[in-house]
Amino acid sequence: MTESRSDWWRHATIYQVYIRSFSDGNGDGEGDIAGLRTKLTYLRDLGVDAIWINPWYPSPLNDGGYDVANYRDIDPRFGDLAQAKELISEAHELGLKVVLDIVPNHSSSEHEWFKAALAAAPGSPERARYIFRDGKGPGGDLPPNNWRSVFGGPAWERITEPDGSPGQWYFHIFDVSQPDLDWSNPEVRDEFLDVLRFWFDMGVDGFRIDVAHGMVKDMTKPDLPYDESNLLASPKIADHPFFDRDGVHEIYRGWREIADAYDPARLFVAEAWVEPPERLARYVRDDELHSAFNFDYLKAPWFAAELRESIEQSMSVLGAVGAPATWVLENHDVERVVTRYGRPDSTGGTVRDRPDVREFDRQLGVRRARAAALLMLSLPGGAYVYQGQELGLHEVLDLPEESLQDPVWERSSHTERGRDGCRVPLPWTVDGPSFGFGANGSWLPQPDGWGEQAVQAQDGVAGSMLELYRSALAIRRENPAFVSTTMTWDDGLGPDVLAFHREPGFVCVANLGTEPVALPEHREVILASVPLTDDGRLPTDAAVWLRTV
Ligand code: NOJ
Repeated sequence: MTESRSDWWRHATIYQVYIRSFSDGNGDGEGDIAGLRTKLTYLRDLGVDAIWINPWYPSPLNDGGYDVANYRDIDPRFGDLAQAKELISEAHELGLKVVLDIVPNHSSSEHEWFKAALAAAPGSPERARYIFRDGKGPGGDLPPNNWRSVFGGPAWERITEPDGSPGQWYFHIFDVSQPDLDWSNPEVRDEFLDVLRFWFDMGVDGFRIDVAHGMVKDMTKPDLPYDESNLLASPKIADHPFFDRDGVHEIYRGWREIADAYDPARLFVAEAWVEPPERLARYVRDDELHSAFNFDYLKAPWFAAELRESIEQSMSVLGAVGAPATWVLENHDVERVVTRYGRPDSTGGTVRDRPDVREFDRQLGVRRARAAALLMLSLPGGAYVYQGQELGLHEVLDLPEESLQDPVWERSSHTERGRDGCRVPLPWTVDGPSFGFGANGSWLPQPDGWGEQAVQAQDGVAGSMLELYRSALAIRRENPAFVSTTMTWDDGLGPDVLAFHREPGFVCVANLGTEPVALPEHREVILASVPLTDDGRLPTDAAVWLRTV
């Protein structure tokens, strides 16, 4: 079955711009809209269909902008609304769609609503936009329950009432500066419908939804059974009080109606860390969201059996609801794939899964990341590429402690370094101030040798990661097999080889084993992650795209 190219999101490649670290136009050490505008042609030439910009709203940036103080404006560090409009129209002129990030689960404690809630009395309409509760024990001195923040520490913070007395507690799944909104309050629901319209009216093509599995809560549930040896891990229980509750789907049906009322219809992609994949499929039912990141795939290690199982499961459960899969290997929350796959045991998963293992083999990681790129980019569905992934950047594991900004570092009492290592500003030039990121340094220190991986060092260089991505994305846009929604496994090349074909006439083979493998019959090698052996076999940790007709 094929589909029309106009359903662009079903097979789009979307490039994630972590704006603070992408390109600094005004020389203040932080990326911004001005910098991004100068790089739009780079993104067009890379061959992506759209960009997703991480939150750029006014924010204290306690959690990289996922602490929004005003949902209808731009943080002055990043620019202003006029520049945002220019950016959107310039991107559109270049054929690039623009997807923003919406953060509906919580606001910043700097948001006007939260300030009003603190100034108002318990039980007031101002407090009812958030989740305030009285404490337990004498004087209400104890938090309402034992629920914990996913960044560490309790999920409750006590406030001081306007009269100076110790007061109520408010709930925050993330940092203490990110109070959760109460989605049972119609005022909250209406507000976000209006925020969606605000940006859609400005021409924005879609939203990535932060913590799409949060929002709806059952605050009457009892204490949770935490694992005392890993207090950052949320208990994996059915009927979790604040994750993946059924009530969230009704919200998305309303959001979809709004998106569909625009011409062209706008897109949603869910960030929902839910298990098993059947639960994820519920978010992308016909009348809900269009797509959802496949974190199951991201979490799989570089082993054929695990990857195949994840691909099969996703294709089957998403196919059942008519949604495309959305493949992802990296984002601003997880360790870079070069680092994960460069470990002897080729770790999948998030940085916080492996705080114990710091060493990795960069050469091995790059080799596997090249193969992984060809594998991912040839699967049916959409794909996301995180800035710097196309350069083969690794996780910066040795950032000086004093430079760490992720709230996880403080809230874990300095036991978890957090996610800054994948957020180090991009190298554009081989040398010069901040390797071309900006004129005056960068908000996170860039490591020595960062310029060796710069765009300038790879541009036009045969065999570079950048050229591999450019070639792969060009083929992805032109080859008719890439709009088909199905794939068929080609077995027989051994348990460590992933091989599949898509019609018309396309085959991908990835060799995750230790020995070279002979390729199936083909007419032409379209693209290979490394040169084939002299006798035409595919070496270990490599992938190849073949034309068979
Ligand atoms: C997911 C975002 O990707 C992450 O960066 C953020 O810390 C949390 N949601 C909280 O908003």
